[in-house]
Amino acid sequence: MRLDKFLCDMQLGTRSQVKDCIKKGNVSVNGSTVKSPDYKLDENADSVSYMGKNVTYQSLYYYMLHKPMNVVTATKDSHDKTVMDLLPDANGKNLFPVGRLDKDTEGLLLITNDGELAHNLLSPKKHVKKTYYVECSGEIDSDKLHMLENGVDIGDEEPTCPAEVRLISQLDCSYTMELTITEGRFHQVKRMVQAVGGAVSYLKRLSMGSLSLDSNLPKGAYRPLTADEIARLKNNLY
Ligand code: URA
Repeated sequence: MRLDKFLCDMQLGTRSQVKDCIKKGNVSVNGSTVKSPDYKLDENADSVSYMGKNVTYQSLYYYMLHKPMNVVTATKDSHDKTVMDLLPDANGKNLFPVGRLDKDTEGLLLITNDGELAHNLLSPKKHVKKTYYVECSGEIDSDKLHMLENGVDIGDEEPTCPAEVRLISQLDCSYTMELTITEGRFHQVKRMVQAVGGAVSYLKRLSMGSLSLDSNLPKGAYRPLTADEIARLKNNLY
């Protein structure tokens, strides 16, 4: 593995920051200063020191979890089962969930130890699309659907950013729709629907960025992302 990639994977800076650091002589391998960012090392055997501190290589892991209801999105909880309890493989890998789904929300949750990817997916500046399947009740006419699309006041400083709404069905005052938002505010979908006079009765996340919930993954199950899914998630961000 290249030395600059090793340092990036370990979240020590962007590729250009770690390259600068290497060129300045702040990195050593097996006790000798290395000034070439493309120096090839054995990440599992060589001993790397960055700004005087030893850096141990940790592989990056990416899992898709189909979160069921009644499980909290946290790494630890004294009362409730957490999403991490559903991943017996998680021990010792420093995994964490990317973003939060409410206890009663189901669907796609990315679990990783890649802090840089998580940061980028959650950054408000990146406007990563999240699509939810929503079941709700109320009197939500086409004006209100347009309000959801244009942005609504949910009691925060700013109205919500424009969203995409796809009405799937309506029967009297019961609706199913897909709602795509680019932010991640607290209880955002429920508060948006509430702001137009409705109430969410069921919520499921279908996708985040280029990553879609695998329809073959049962509730409560997880699987590693494929190399292609990881590459597409990253390529669409940087
Ligand atoms: N919006 C919500 O209201 N809840 C979630 O869990 C996710 C988005």
